[in-house]
Amino acid sequence: MSESSSVVEVCVAGTGSYVPERILTNGELAKMVDTSDEWIVTRTGIRERRIAADDEFTSHMSTKAALRALEQAGMTAGEIELIVVATITPDTPTPATACHVQHQLGASNAVAFDISAACSGFLYAMKICKRLISDGAFNNALIIGAEKLSTVTNWEDRSTCVLFGDGAGAAVLRKAGPGEGSIVATEMGTDGNLTHLLEIPGGGSACPITAQNAGQHLHTLNMQGKEVFKIAVNRMKEAAEKVIERAGWRAEDIACVIPHQANLRIIDAIADRLAVPNERVFVNLDKYGNTSAAAVAIALDEANRTGAFKRGDHIVLVVFGAGLTWAAAAIRW
Ligand code: UT7
Repeated sequence: MSESSSVVEVCVAGTGSYVPERILTNGELAKMVDTSDEWIVTRTGIRERRIAADDEFTSHMSTKAALRALEQAGMTAGEIELIVVATITPDTPTPATACHVQHQLGASNAVAFDISAACSGFLYAMKICKRLISDGAFNNALIIGAEKLSTVTNWEDRSTCVLFGDGAGAAVLRKAGPGEGSIVATEMGTDGNLTHLLEIPGGGSACPITAQNAGQHLHTLNMQGKEVFKIAVNRMKEAAEKVIERAGWRAEDIACVIPHQANLRIIDAIADRLAVPNERVFVNLDKYGNTSAAAVAIALDEANRTGAFKRGDHIVLVVFGAGLTWAAAAIRW
């Protein structure tokens, strides 16, 4: 789905992120399942991930990331008009995690809801909120990607448990003033023919968890990794190319590409196909693994705070996940 350029420019006014304290290393995982640090690093690039405490929920991580984004944007929670949380691990099936976040922030003037687009959720939220702001419905929005994937991980399955982690990232979007940055182009896509490649089969209305099936790990993430890998590379490349073209940029104009953090080999393949040198591609999956909707949001915040780009620079975000879903955004910072 594409878009024409809108009249009202929307900028990213602040970013924030939060990861839990507890670090789970590859070495620790090698004591839990038949794997090794060498296999995980070579095949994925991941060295460690964060695991939230039992009493630390997706909403708590979201709120901590949001407070940092608000602080950077120089805004108070009371000024926020819209809160959208992208997550596949909500605190509760209902109400939405965004409602818990609204309460925790004291953002009493905000409308709040969740979206479910797996790893692509943060950029889905960015596009939706950009439109709602540029159409005049809201003046600003707090978008959050947050996951407690440790609660939907099968810790006995080496093919998936080495991949995932917990965390949250946030961004404040608002109408841009003169000379400020702009979300220049966005792109998103879905292929519902491929739902079976990456899913949590149980816990929903199709397959409720019962006393009979409780031990079968039906509530955990299942992935056909090889198939997902190939499609991820192609779809992310295409989505990134579309926003770069629509923005009127060339590869050499891009200061930083921030991709979904699932696998370093996927990231390298995309950088290669986009002809963007590796030093301009932001990577932090070695520290956090794949945190689904949170991954690109945490990476955006870390890239922002570590000076990977500066005001006026051109940056490209690109993501891929269950659905299958994908999305990209071209932002003039
Ligand atoms: O976030 C949403 C999007 N997700 C992605 O984009 C993930 C895409 N997929 C991937 O990143 C990769 O496919 C994985 C990292 C999941 C797997 O890497 P792979 O190179 O595709 O490995 P594979 O699944 O083909 O497995 C290769 C071998 C198998 O053994 P055999 O059959 O060759 O004897 C696996 O059993 O590696 C084995 N294996 C492991 N060995 C040690 C699988 N997991 C592990 C493990 N430790 N943790």
